[in-house]
Amino acid sequence: MKMKIATIIGARPQFIKAAPVSRAIRGAGAEERRRTEGGGSGGKKGEKTGKPKKSAARARITEVLIHTGQHYDKNMSAVFFDEMGIPAPDYNLDIGSAAHGAQTGAMLAAIEQVLERERPDWVLIYGDTNSTLAGALAGAKMHIPIAHVEAGLRSYDRRMPEEINRVVADQLAAALFCPSKVAVANLRKEGIRDGVHVVGDVMAEALEYAVARAIEREAAQPEKFGLARYGIDEAGYILATVHRAENTDDPVRLKNILEALDVIGRIRPVVFPVHPRTQKMIARAGWKPKGRTARTAKTKAMPGGGDRPGEKKARSGGRAQELSPMRTGIRFIDPVGYLEMARLESGATMILTDSGGIQKEAYWLKVPCVTLRDRTEWVETVASGWNVLAGADKRKIVQAAENFTIPGKSESLYGRGSRATAPASRRIVEILAKSATRAK
Ligand code: UD1
Ligand code: UDP
Repeated sequence: MKMKIATIIGARPQFIKAAPVSRAIRGAGAEERRRTEGGGSGGKKGEKTGKPKKSAARARITEVLIHTGQHYDKNMSAVFFDEMGIPAPDYNLDIGSAAHGAQTGAMLAAIEQVLERERPDWVLIYGDTNSTLAGALAGAKMHIPIAHVEAGLRSYDRRMPEEINRVVADQLAAALFCPSKVAVANLRKEGIRDGVHVVGDVMAEALEYAVARAIEREAAQPEKFGLARYGIDEAGYILATVHRAENTDDPVRLKNILEALDVIGRIRPVVFPVHPRTQKMIARAGWKPKGRTARTAKTKAMPGGGDRPGEKKARSGGRAQELSPMRTGIRFIDPVGYLEMARLESGATMILTDSGGIQKEAYWLKVPCVTLRDRTEWVETVASGWNVLAGADKRKIVQAAENFTIPGKSESLYGRGSRATAPASRRIVEILAKSATRAK
């Protein structure tokens, strides 16, 4: 059996999601080689077939890794490859930042060329970014079957670019890997029944891997990797992230969120790794946190943006305004690698975020989560009581954080903790491998 999977990734959460699957693909390839070399087709177990090595080398599951270049800063891209043991991409398309149409169009054209050359059996896409959409369109137009990891997620808010990307990707996919039954039901409502598999969530594996490594390296070098370098300890701090277009591109929502974090930060320090998009928008609004930001020496948060060729520098629009009252307990830091993030998440008293992935990570780590959005596609986390939706309303955010009631019990969501089932990554690779066997 021979199968080639072309994996398309480009944004931070996709590197994290692809890591366990990529490991499983390489594991399956090695296993397949062992079987072919050791037993061969028709041979008894353990008996060498005497076939030339060439046939063993051909009997492989291989992955061609295609990085669109949607994210490109070291701490938005390379760090995840290094820390999560992902092989260097076979292709980096270096597309970079642009408006949706220009960015997706450029990716589509470049991916098409690579697929033309590589002729894979599957195009494997993750999540809901513009890289996902471009991969889905390129593969479907070339009649290459699409496999979508995180299929069936819906916020039912089409103003979110991610929702459009998900809906299109699912319509075009031949294999749809869902993390939950709710996702399967969502697909059914859209008439999608074939090729749907509930496999759990690959991010659970990625998180486990990262937490284990973060603990190891902190034990070895506590000064370098401990919480103390942020001026915090396990006694209590809050972790915050904000990057969604609906929050960053609306100055009123962004200001409300920052002011809510400031209020909360007076009680407990708030550590805030700031996504480059958010750094740019904060700088563009001309806001400047008043007083000491207490940020660490390694960080230089809130540069003026404009870090890609052809991209305009953010303009402050005149005198810097202070974010009233912003005294502030917020530690603004640059985006961090995944091991550092896993450490910050697991030690936090509470997480405030508009991220999709972080809502799940908070749930798995049993850290209360206040989601800075009006809707979420991760509805099970809200139903469980571990996640509260507070939108961008300052009063609601502060109240949700102050009055959070930790649920008495919690079930295991998205396949984590279930020893009966294989990890999502392995199931994905097995399902893809079976379909390739059938097709040949
Ligand atoms: C994208 C995804 C979003 C996902 C997020 C993960 C889309 C439509 N959105 O949003 O679903 O949650 O990634 O983080 O695909 N920038 C840099 N350096 C980088 C990357 C981005 O400075 O390495 C800045 C640029 O100014 C860019 C802006 O961030 O214009 C936004 O980047 P982009 O990839 O377009 O969208 P994200 O907001 O990152
Ligand atoms: N993350 C990280 N460093 C950061 C912020 C986030 O490693 O500074 C991780 C986070 O733990 C999660 C993933 O990035 O695994 C989520 O990415 P993001 O919030 O950018 O995108 P979303 O999940 O909303 O699409």
